[in-house]
Amino acid sequence: MAQSSMTIKPVTGHLGEKLRSELSQEGFYEDFVEVNPGALVMPSYYTQFHQRYLDFIVKPDDIWVMTYPKSGTTWTQELVWCLIHGMDHKDASFNLMTRFPFFECDSLVPADMKCEPGQSPDDPCLPGNTWRIITNMPSPRTIKTHMHKPLIPKMLWQVKPKIVYVCRDPRDVCISYYFHSVKFDSYTGQLSDFVELFLGDKMPWSPFWSHILDFWQMRHQGHILFLTFEEMKTDFPTVVRKVAKFLEKTVSKEEVERLANHCSFSSMSKNKAVNNEDIMAIETERSKNIKFMRKGEVGDWKNHLTKHQLEAFKEWTTKHLKGTDFPYYQDY
Ligand code: A3P
Repeated sequence: MAQSSMTIKPVTGHLGEKLRSELSQEGFYEDFVEVNPGALVMPSYYTQFHQRYLDFIVKPDDIWVMTYPKSGTTWTQELVWCLIHGMDHKDASFNLMTRFPFFECDSLVPADMKCEPGQSPDDPCLPGNTWRIITNMPSPRTIKTHMHKPLIPKMLWQVKPKIVYVCRDPRDVCISYYFHSVKFDSYTGQLSDFVELFLGDKMPWSPFWSHILDFWQMRHQGHILFLTFEEMKTDFPTVVRKVAKFLEKTVSKEEVERLANHCSFSSMSKNKAVNNEDIMAIETERSKNIKFMRKGEVGDWKNHLTKHQLEAFKEWTTKHLKGTDFPYYQDY
């Protein structure tokens, strides 16, 4: 396979330092890199995986769910998995991380990270396990990634497996990502700090808009289905039918109803296989009451963002959407 011509360097500048001081911690996210062109931010261990990920062997019947973090990935994964295998499949109670592995998971932790007491050696969060799960998975493999289009396996564009891409209002993504970072990544900054990093496109898997626009521009290709968190909230049964059609599955009216019930926020919040309650997180005063299944709403940003921050969101969005036909968030 041809060597990648992209370059990788540490994230620099004031925001790079801010990210390092507020998000890095020993034994987990230790540092962050920027892949160019595109200033694509990733945790630094990604560097060792860059070429391997680009050269990953893709199969035609693989099914991918792709998102910027906190856009409704888990929700979509559960729906896709159930449509492919059936809600009553014997493995439906297995952890989603094994049924629907997170492609770049191994690159988020140090290679020498040890199994904690009480943790299974097969835990997908331990280094190397996700790669093994994916390469041993029977077809059709279901795979999730948050990576930018330039970083995902090159074979995807020749083999063209099905890709479900989901986006969400960045104001809600930002709030959700902030709480996620406090809970799971011991983020030490305040929301105002987080907003600065988010709008500065320095959080891991940023920049936000180029992530979405790359897939928005390809949305008419037959192997890509472009969805929004907001349409899932507005009319989930219609989304179920849309995804089923895309995956070439027939679903009865009754199955749509059962799936809508199974994938509802209240049901997923109680479902151990998807609610991520088992993910190892360092309990602190700040994090102890935050849940992965937090609110699942549209517009929670109204409870958190100041007028000044909203103006900054508007300016950032306008700048990035200029010259595109992306119709989102005209209510700014
Ligand atoms: P909030 O933090 O706003 O509640 P991801 O899976 O990409 O990390 O996204 C997580 C977000 O999706 C969280 O948003 C979570 O609550 C929400 N979510 C997960 N399952 C959901 C469901 N069944 N219905 C609505 N929202 C859901």
